[in-house]
Amino acid sequence: MYEKLNDIRQKCLSCNKCRLAETRTNIVFDDGLPNPKMMLIGEAPGFYEDKEGKPFVGKAGQLLDKIFASVGLSREKDVYICNTVKCRPPENRNPLPDEKEACWEYLQAQIDIIHPKIILLCGNVAVQSILGNVGGITKIRGKWFDGGEIVHGAKLMPIFHPSYLLRNDTREKGGPKWLMWQDIQEIKRYFDKL
Ligand code: URA
Repeated sequence: MYEKLNDIRQKCLSCNKCRLAETRTNIVFDDGLPNPKMMLIGEAPGFYEDKEGKPFVGKAGQLLDKIFASVGLSREKDVYICNTVKCRPPENRNPLPDEKEACWEYLQAQIDIIHPKIILLCGNVAVQSILGNVGGITKIRGKWFDGGEIVHGAKLMPIFHPSYLLRNDTREKGGPKWLMWQDIQEIKRYFDKL
């Protein structure tokens, strides 16, 4: 598994299929053990990720670590983390359709190699890449989806992106943080049954 992932990583290192290659500092390929139980797909690297070459290391990443830790899951050991695109879009804009398309082969290869049982789709960009137009994140978060062949039958759950939670900090019942807490508990219940 490590060798296969490394082959794909090497391909990304020399990739210049889209304009994001021109402005990247580092490719941001993955983090965490290639754990076949659970994978998380985020949107795209930001400023700190581009600098360090590792996904979710900025403020959003720190919140993500806390969310996993709140139910006893370890970011390092229990989840394999990657993004829909491997290079940072300028000014942290959303990746454009042709950029996502250019990078798709790498994400598909990661899914094929890891063959995860659960895939967490973190935010709208990740949801659209895998599930297409199934509705906005506020409507579909917390629901299990069957992803079909491209994900080898994995169970998919859309979840709020931690940057959204940072911008919507209220802890009140029914608010984004409260909903995230419901979702991570459901994810943990399913994870424990695997
Ligand atoms: N946001 C993402 O979606 N991915 C990262 O790696 C960092 C921030």
